Amino acid sequence: MSNNFPISALQFASGKRTICEVLREINDLHQGQSKEDLKIRELLDEAISMAKKMSRKLLHYNKKAFSKFWEENPNYEKDLNRRLDLKYKIAFEKFAFDEKYKQSIKIADRIPHMGAKNIQEWLLRAAHFVPEKTAIVEIGAWLGSGTAYLLIGNDSKNKIFVYDHFFANASEAEKAKRFKIDLKPGTDTLPIVRDNLKKFKGNITFIKEKLLDMEWGGDPIGLLVDDVSKGPEAWNHTVKNFLPHVVAGGKIILMDYFYFEKTERPHHKTQYNFMQKHKKNFRFLRRSADGSEAMFLVLKKFRGEK
Ligand SMILES: C[S@@+](CC[C@H](N)C(=O)[O-])C[C@H]1O[C@@H](n2cnc3c(N)ncnc32)[C@H](O)[C@@H]1O
Repeated sequence: MSNNFPISALQFASGKRTICEVLREINDLHQGQSKEDLKIRELLDEAISMAKKMSRKLLHYNKKAFSKFWEENPNYEKDLNRRLDLKYKIAFEKFAFDEKYKQSIKIADRIPHMGAKNIQEWLLRAAHFVPEKTAIVEIGAWLGSGTAYLLIGNDSKNKIFVYDHFFANASEAEKAKRFKIDLKPGTDTLPIVRDNLKKFKGNITFIKEKLLDMEWGGDPIGLLVDDVSKGPEAWNHTVKNFLPHVVAGGKIILMDYFYFEKTERPHHKTQYNFMQKHKKNFRFLRRSADGSEAMFLVLKKFRGEK
């Protein structure tokens, strides 16, 4: 390629934007609309990596001529955040649960919990706005409090999969006492959860397994709520088995995400370090009022650790 390549024509065609930015904007506009959009997003992902490869090749051939043309818009991050705020934040926060839901929410509020009730609005709304034809996955349900809010918010639109070993240990038995429940260590909690949830409608599957045996079949996940995989081994398992299936536009709620601030122990920072490293895939959305839980929006499907 000669140095006289007609770059001015290319610049004219693109204005100030790069191919990647235009593709990403199309991607944003399509998030969470329909099953077809999932396919469009996959294709856009492919097109973005092709554009990046092409950019590297062009720079390789003619570094000087193309250096400006392929540069990222320095305001890209700000622009993207502004668009996402408009699309998600406003719709998410403004959604009100009317009388139809209120009675069910009152019943759900009576189920013993270890934090789920404190983030009931997140669970209700995230389950309500979950992308079409994706699954909701909850890892660690305890007695079904969070599951109840997911069922209410989702209104039977999506399939809900609940993973837990459904086995009470001594510390859980102790916590149950606060709710005046006599839960003996070693109790199989699945019948209790089923009973707690019998008043709520929905398409729910319980998977009674230990975390390290949990596997996901591969269908797209639109919402992942995790209250189990906190240490390095457990989190790595979730990263490999669940995270790559959460679609762009999907959400992830990590309970106890900010626990490390209280303990300052490095292994409690496992999820935090991961999210810091993968900011391009996961956008931090908010922190719960009591400060421990975090919600993320999947910007770009995670394709595994390189
Ligand atoms: C912190 S509790 C979940 C509390 C629930 N999110 C709430 O707020 O009410 C964690 C749940 O995960 C289960 N669990 C803990 N370790 C597990 C493991 N290794 N495999 C499967 N389930 C596990 C516990 O039995 C418990 O039901």
